[in-house]
Amino acid sequence: MMEKELEALAARALERIEAAGSPEELEAVRIEVLGRKGALARFSKQLGTLAPEERARVGRILNSAKEQLERSFEARKEAFHRRALEQRLEAEWFDLTLPAPGPRPGSLHPVTQVQREIEEVFLSMGFTVLSGPEVETEYNNFDALNIPPDHPARDVQDTFWVEGGHLLRTHTSPVQVRGMERLGPPLRMIAPGRVFRNEEVDASHEHTFYQLEGMMVDREVSVAHLVYFMKQMLSAVFRREVSVRLRPGYFPFVEPGFELDIRCLICGGSGCAVCKYNGWLEQLGCGLVHPNVLRMSGIDPEEWMGFAFGLGLTRLVMMRYAIDDVRLFQSGDLRFLMQF
Ligand code: DAH
Repeated sequence: MMEKELEALAARALERIEAAGSPEELEAVRIEVLGRKGALARFSKQLGTLAPEERARVGRILNSAKEQLERSFEARKEAFHRRALEQRLEAEWFDLTLPAPGPRPGSLHPVTQVQREIEEVFLSMGFTVLSGPEVETEYNNFDALNIPPDHPARDVQDTFWVEGGHLLRTHTSPVQVRGMERLGPPLRMIAPGRVFRNEEVDASHEHTFYQLEGMMVDREVSVAHLVYFMKQMLSAVFRREVSVRLRPGYFPFVEPGFELDIRCLICGGSGCAVCKYNGWLEQLGCGLVHPNVLRMSGIDPEEWMGFAFGLGLTRLVMMRYAIDDVRLFQSGDLRFLMQF
Protein backbone atom coordinates (compact mmCIF):
# COMPACT_ATOMS: atom_id res chain seq x y z
CA MET A 1 0.00 0.00 0.00
CA MET A 2 2.57 2.52 1.18
CA GLU A 3 4.97 1.16 -1.36
CA LYS A 4 2.61 2.02 -4.25
CA GLU A 5 2.05 5.56 -2.96
CA LEU A 6 5.77 6.00 -2.60
CA GLU A 7 6.44 4.92 -6.17
CA ALA A 8 3.69 7.19 -7.51
CA LEU A 9 5.08 10.15 -5.50
CA ALA A 10 8.62 9.51 -6.72
CA ALA A 11 7.48 9.25 -10.35
CA ARG A 12 5.53 12.53 -10.11
CA ALA A 13 8.40 14.29 -8.41
CA LEU A 14 10.82 13.16 -11.13
CA GLU A 15 8.50 14.54 -13.80
CA ARG A 16 8.23 17.87 -12.02
CA ILE A 17 12.01 18.11 -11.64
CA GLU A 18 12.44 17.55 -15.35
CA ALA A 19 9.66 20.03 -16.17
CA ALA A 20 10.92 22.85 -13.90
CA GLY A 21 11.48 25.94 -16.05
CA SER A 22 13.70 27.90 -13.67
CA PRO A 23 16.01 27.33 -10.68
CA GLU A 24 13.30 28.88 -8.47
CA GLU A 25 10.69 26.43 -9.64
CA LEU A 26 13.16 23.59 -9.15
CA GLU A 27 13.88 24.69 -5.60
CA ALA A 28 10.17 24.84 -4.81
CA VAL A 29 9.80 21.22 -5.93
CA ARG A 30 12.81 20.20 -3.82
CA ILE A 31 11.37 21.77 -0.68
CA GLU A 32 8.00 20.19 -1.30
CA VAL A 33 9.42 16.69 -1.79
CA LEU A 34 12.81 16.49 -0.09
CA GLY A 35 12.47 19.31 2.46
CA ARG A 36 12.43 18.79 6.22
CA LYS A 37 8.63 18.91 6.18
CA GLY A 38 8.30 17.52 2.66
CA ALA A 39 6.43 14.49 1.32
CA LEU A 40 9.29 12.03 1.87
CA ALA A 41 9.75 13.20 5.47
CA ARG A 42 6.08 12.53 6.06
CA PHE A 43 6.54 8.97 4.76
CA SER A 44 9.49 8.43 7.09
CA LYS A 45 7.31 9.31 10.03
CA GLN A 46 4.73 6.73 8.96
CA LEU A 47 7.37 3.98 8.86
CA GLY A 48 7.00 3.57 12.61
CA THR A 49 3.49 2.24 12.18
CA LEU A 50 4.67 -0.74 10.08
CA ALA A 51 5.67 -4.18 11.23
CA PRO A 52 9.48 -4.55 11.63
CA GLU A 53 10.25 -6.54 8.46
CA GLU A 54 7.85 -4.40 6.45
CA ARG A 55 9.45 -1.29 7.93
CA ALA A 56 12.94 -2.38 6.80
CA ARG A 57 11.78 -3.14 3.27
CA VAL A 58 9.80 0.08 2.76
CA GLY A 59 12.64 1.99 4.48
CA ARG A 60 15.08 0.76 1.80
CA ILE A 61 12.67 1.74 -0.95
CA LEU A 62 12.23 5.14 0.64
CA ASN A 63 16.00 5.66 0.83
CA SER A 64 16.62 4.66 -2.75
CA ALA A 65 13.76 6.90 -3.95
CA LYS A 66 15.27 9.77 -1.95
CA GLU A 67 18.74 9.22 -3.40
CA GLN A 68 17.41 9.05 -6.94
CA LEU A 69 15.41 12.25 -6.49
CA GLU A 70 18.41 14.03 -4.98
CA ARG A 71 20.62 13.00 -7.91
CA SER A 72 18.20 14.20 -10.53
CA PHE A 73 17.62 17.36 -8.61
CA GLU A 74 21.38 18.06 -8.54
CA ALA A 75 21.73 17.25 -12.24
CA ARG A 76 18.92 19.63 -13.13
CA LYS A 77 20.37 22.34 -10.94
CA GLU A 78 23.74 21.89 -12.61
CA ALA A 79 22.10 22.19 -16.04
CA PHE A 80 20.50 25.50 -15.07
CA HIS A 81 23.84 26.75 -13.81
CA ARG A 82 25.62 25.78 -17.00
CA ARG A 83 23.00 27.43 -19.18
CA ALA A 84 23.24 30.69 -17.17
CA LEU A 85 27.01 30.68 -17.59
CA GLU A 86 26.75 30.07 -21.32
CA GLN A 87 24.32 32.95 -21.68
CA ARG A 88 26.66 35.25 -19.78
CA LEU A 89 29.66 34.26 -21.87
CA GLU A 90 27.61 34.92 -24.97
CA ALA A 91 26.56 38.36 -23.77
CA GLU A 92 29.84 39.59 -22.23
CA TRP A 93 32.91 39.44 -24.41
CA PHE A 94 35.86 41.56 -25.44
CA ASP A 95 37.45 41.84 -28.84
CA LEU A 96 41.07 41.31 -27.90
CA THR A 97 42.18 42.25 -31.41
CA LEU A 98 40.89 45.86 -31.13
CA PRO A 99 43.79 48.33 -30.85
CA ALA A 100 44.13 49.94 -27.40
CA PRO A 101 43.74 53.75 -27.20
CA GLY A 102 47.33 54.04 -25.94
CA PRO A 103 48.91 56.76 -23.76
CA ARG A 104 48.79 60.34 -25.06
CA PRO A 105 52.38 61.57 -25.12
CA GLY A 106 53.17 64.98 -23.66
CA SER A 107 55.04 67.63 -25.61
CA LEU A 108 57.40 70.51 -24.97
CA HIS A 109 56.02 73.99 -24.38
CA PRO A 110 56.06 76.00 -27.64
CA VAL A 111 58.55 78.48 -26.14
CA THR A 112 60.89 75.59 -25.27
CA GLN A 113 60.55 74.16 -28.78
CA VAL A 114 61.47 77.41 -30.51
CA GLN A 115 64.20 78.10 -27.96
CA ARG A 116 65.80 74.74 -28.73
CA GLU A 117 65.60 75.34 -32.48
CA ILE A 118 67.41 78.66 -32.08
CA GLU A 119 70.00 77.03 -29.81
CA GLU A 120 70.68 74.45 -32.54
CA VAL A 121 71.26 77.19 -35.11
CA PHE A 122 73.73 79.06 -32.91
CA LEU A 123 75.47 75.96 -31.58
CA SER A 124 76.17 74.98 -35.20
CA MET A 125 77.81 78.40 -35.70
CA GLY A 126 80.17 78.10 -32.74
CA PHE A 127 78.12 79.86 -30.07
CA THR A 128 77.86 78.73 -26.45
CA VAL A 129 74.50 78.61 -24.65
CA LEU A 130 74.70 80.34 -21.26
CA SER A 131 72.15 80.94 -18.55
CA GLY A 132 72.11 83.40 -15.69
CA PRO A 133 70.04 83.73 -12.53
CA GLU A 134 66.56 85.23 -12.58
CA VAL A 135 67.36 87.19 -9.42
CA GLU A 136 70.14 89.56 -10.47
CA THR A 137 72.23 92.32 -9.01
CA GLU A 138 71.38 95.88 -9.89
CA TYR A 139 74.93 96.15 -11.22
CA ASN A 140 74.58 93.32 -13.79
CA ASN A 141 71.08 94.28 -14.85
CA PHE A 142 71.76 98.03 -15.22
CA ASP A 143 75.15 99.58 -14.33
CA ALA A 144 77.37 97.17 -16.26
CA LEU A 145 75.14 97.68 -19.29
CA ASN A 146 75.76 101.40 -19.30
CA ILE A 147 72.24 102.15 -18.08
CA PRO A 148 72.63 105.28 -15.95
CA PRO A 149 70.94 105.53 -12.52
CA ASP A 150 68.34 108.02 -13.76
CA HIS A 151 67.33 105.89 -16.78
CA PRO A 152 63.55 105.26 -16.97
CA ALA A 153 64.16 101.48 -17.21
CA ARG A 154 65.12 101.53 -13.52
CA ASP A 155 61.78 103.00 -12.58
CA VAL A 156 60.00 101.15 -9.77
CA GLN A 157 57.09 100.97 -12.19
CA ASP A 158 58.98 98.45 -14.34
CA THR A 159 61.31 96.59 -12.02
CA PHE A 160 60.42 94.03 -9.38
CA TRP A 161 62.84 94.73 -6.56
CA VAL A 162 63.91 92.02 -4.15
CA GLU A 163 65.02 92.59 -0.58
CA GLY A 164 68.69 93.44 -0.22
CA GLY A 165 68.91 95.55 -3.39
CA HIS A 166 68.58 92.63 -5.80
CA LEU A 167 65.94 92.52 -8.53
CA LEU A 168 64.18 90.15 -10.91
CA ARG A 169 66.08 90.66 -14.15
CA THR A 170 64.16 92.89 -16.54
CA HIS A 171 66.00 91.47 -19.57
CA THR A 172 68.51 88.73 -20.46
CA SER A 173 71.24 91.32 -21.15
CA PRO A 174 72.93 90.80 -17.73
CA VAL A 175 74.00 87.37 -19.02
CA GLN A 176 76.23 89.26 -21.51
CA VAL A 177 78.03 90.70 -18.50
CA ARG A 178 78.41 87.29 -16.90
CA GLY A 179 79.62 85.81 -20.20
CA MET A 180 82.25 88.51 -20.73
CA GLU A 181 83.47 88.30 -17.14
CA ARG A 182 83.63 84.51 -17.05
CA LEU A 183 84.79 83.61 -20.56
CA GLY A 184 86.48 86.75 -21.88
CA PRO A 185 87.14 87.44 -25.58
CA PRO A 186 86.80 86.07 -28.21
CA LEU A 187 83.24 85.21 -27.25
CA ARG A 188 80.15 83.86 -28.99
CA MET A 189 77.22 83.27 -26.69
CA ILE A 190 73.47 83.20 -26.55
CA ALA A 191 71.33 83.21 -23.40
CA PRO A 192 67.65 82.32 -23.45
CA GLY A 193 65.70 82.95 -20.27
CA ARG A 194 62.79 84.25 -18.30
CA VAL A 195 62.51 87.95 -17.54
CA PHE A 196 60.15 89.99 -15.39
CA ARG A 197 58.56 93.42 -15.62
CA ASN A 198 56.08 95.08 -13.36
CA GLU A 199 53.45 95.48 -16.07
CA GLU A 200 49.70 95.47 -16.25
CA VAL A 201 48.79 92.13 -17.87
CA ASP A 202 46.67 92.08 -21.02
CA ALA A 203 46.57 90.18 -24.34
CA SER A 204 49.95 91.59 -25.38
CA HIS A 205 51.67 92.27 -22.02
CA GLU A 206 52.87 89.81 -19.40
CA HIS A 207 54.83 90.43 -16.22
CA THR A 208 56.82 87.24 -16.98
CA PHE A 209 58.05 86.34 -20.46
CA TYR A 210 61.02 84.95 -22.36
CA GLN A 211 63.87 86.66 -24.16
CA LEU A 212 66.90 85.41 -25.99
CA GLU A 213 70.13 87.36 -25.76
CA GLY A 214 73.14 87.01 -28.02
CA MET A 215 76.63 88.43 -28.14
CA MET A 216 79.73 88.04 -30.23
CA VAL A 217 83.03 89.68 -29.28
CA ASP A 218 86.07 89.38 -31.54
CA ARG A 219 88.77 91.48 -33.19
CA GLU A 220 86.79 92.36 -36.31
CA VAL A 221 83.05 92.38 -35.88
CA SER A 222 80.76 94.42 -38.10
CA VAL A 223 77.10 95.16 -38.64
CA ALA A 224 77.33 92.78 -41.63
CA HIS A 225 78.12 89.92 -39.23
CA LEU A 226 75.21 90.94 -37.06
CA VAL A 227 72.80 90.95 -40.01
CA TYR A 228 74.10 87.60 -41.22
CA PHE A 229 73.52 85.85 -37.88
CA MET A 230 70.10 87.43 -37.45
CA LYS A 231 69.02 86.23 -40.88
CA GLN A 232 70.24 82.71 -40.12
CA MET A 233 68.26 82.64 -36.89
CA LEU A 234 65.03 84.16 -38.22
CA SER A 235 65.04 82.10 -41.43
CA ALA A 236 65.32 78.95 -39.29
CA VAL A 237 62.46 79.97 -37.00
CA PHE A 238 60.12 80.99 -39.81
CA ARG A 239 61.32 78.17 -42.10
CA ARG A 240 61.91 80.42 -45.09
CA GLU A 241 64.38 83.00 -46.30
CA VAL A 242 63.52 86.30 -44.55
CA SER A 243 64.46 89.82 -45.66
CA VAL A 244 65.63 92.12 -42.89
CA ARG A 245 66.17 95.84 -42.46
CA LEU A 246 67.76 97.92 -39.73
CA ARG A 247 66.36 101.12 -38.28
CA PRO A 248 68.17 103.25 -35.77
CA GLY A 249 67.22 102.35 -32.19
CA TYR A 250 68.48 103.48 -28.83
CA PHE A 251 69.76 101.05 -26.21
CA PRO A 252 72.40 102.31 -23.75
CA PHE A 253 74.58 99.18 -24.15
CA VAL A 254 75.07 99.43 -27.93
CA GLU A 255 76.38 102.12 -30.25
CA PRO A 256 75.13 102.29 -32.90
CA GLY A 257 71.88 100.63 -31.84
CA PHE A 258 69.21 99.26 -34.16
CA GLU A 259 65.76 97.86 -34.37
CA LEU A 260 65.74 94.93 -36.77
CA ASP A 261 62.60 94.19 -38.80
CA ILE A 262 61.72 91.39 -41.20
CA ARG A 263 59.57 91.81 -44.27
CA CYS A 264 56.00 90.85 -43.37
CA LEU A 265 55.52 87.10 -43.68
CA ILE A 266 51.83 87.43 -44.45
CA CYS A 267 51.72 90.03 -47.21
CA GLY A 268 55.36 89.93 -48.31
CA GLY A 269 55.66 93.68 -47.77
CA SER A 270 52.64 95.05 -49.63
CA GLY A 271 50.81 95.83 -46.38
CA CYS A 272 48.21 93.93 -44.34
CA ALA A 273 46.56 93.91 -40.93
CA VAL A 274 49.36 91.82 -39.38
CA CYS A 275 52.10 94.35 -40.25
CA LYS A 276 49.66 97.24 -39.73
CA TYR A 277 50.02 98.13 -43.40
CA ASN A 278 53.69 99.09 -43.28
CA GLY A 279 55.08 95.85 -44.75
CA TRP A 280 57.57 95.13 -41.92
CA LEU A 281 57.49 93.28 -38.61
CA GLU A 282 59.64 94.43 -35.70
CA GLN A 283 61.77 91.56 -34.41
CA LEU A 284 64.53 92.57 -32.04
CA GLY A 285 66.95 95.16 -30.68
CA CYS A 286 70.62 94.96 -31.53
CA GLY A 287 73.78 96.92 -32.18
CA LEU A 288 77.53 97.08 -31.76
CA VAL A 289 78.57 96.67 -28.14
CA HIS A 290 79.22 100.03 -26.45
CA PRO A 291 82.90 100.48 -25.50
CA ASN A 292 81.85 101.26 -21.91
CA VAL A 293 80.17 97.87 -21.65
CA LEU A 294 83.29 96.03 -22.86
CA ARG A 295 85.52 98.06 -20.55
CA MET A 296 83.35 97.50 -17.47
CA SER A 297 83.60 93.75 -17.97
CA GLY A 298 87.38 93.86 -18.34
CA ILE A 299 87.64 93.79 -22.14
CA ASP A 300 89.81 96.38 -23.89
CA PRO A 301 87.64 98.20 -26.48
CA GLU A 302 90.80 99.23 -28.38
CA GLU A 303 91.48 95.57 -29.11
CA TRP A 304 87.99 93.97 -29.18
CA MET A 305 84.61 94.81 -30.60
CA GLY A 306 81.29 93.01 -30.77
CA PHE A 307 77.64 92.90 -31.58
CA ALA A 308 74.74 92.07 -29.28
CA PHE A 309 71.06 91.43 -29.74
CA GLY A 310 68.03 90.83 -27.59
CA LEU A 311 64.95 89.09 -28.90
CA GLY A 312 61.49 88.76 -27.39
CA LEU A 313 61.24 84.98 -27.54
CA THR A 314 57.64 84.84 -26.36
CA ARG A 315 56.65 87.42 -28.98
CA LEU A 316 58.54 85.51 -31.67
CA VAL A 317 56.64 82.32 -30.81
CA MET A 318 53.36 84.26 -30.98
CA MET A 319 54.30 85.41 -34.45
CA ARG A 320 55.39 82.00 -35.63
CA TYR A 321 52.17 80.27 -34.55
CA ALA A 322 49.82 83.28 -34.93
CA ILE A 323 48.93 83.25 -31.21
CA ASP A 324 47.07 86.42 -30.29
CA ASP A 325 47.04 86.31 -26.48
CA VAL A 326 50.27 86.19 -24.48
CA ARG A 327 48.40 85.06 -21.36
CA LEU A 328 47.92 81.60 -22.89
CA PHE A 329 51.62 80.79 -22.42
CA GLN A 330 51.42 80.57 -18.65
CA SER A 331 47.79 79.52 -18.39
CA GLY A 332 48.62 75.81 -18.12
CA ASP A 333 45.56 75.29 -20.32
CA LEU A 334 45.90 71.86 -21.94
CA ARG A 335 43.61 72.83 -24.81
CA PHE A 336 46.30 75.36 -25.76
CA LEU A 337 49.35 73.22 -24.96
CA MET A 338 48.09 70.10 -26.73
CA GLN A 339 48.29 71.89 -30.07
CA PHE A 340 52.10 71.90 -29.99
N1 DAH B 1 67.63 94.28 -23.46
C1 DAH B 1 66.78 94.91 -24.46
C2 DAH B 1 65.34 94.88 -23.99
O1 DAH B 1 65.02 94.15 -23.11
C3 DAH B 1 66.88 94.20 -25.79
C4 DAH B 1 68.22 94.41 -26.43
C5 DAH B 1 68.40 95.45 -27.32
C6 DAH B 1 69.25 93.57 -26.15
C7 DAH B 1 69.61 95.65 -27.95
C8 DAH B 1 70.51 93.75 -26.77
C9 DAH B 1 70.65 94.80 -27.68
O2 DAH B 1 71.55 92.97 -26.53
O3 DAH B 1 71.85 94.98 -28.27
O4 DAH B 1 64.52 95.60 -24.54
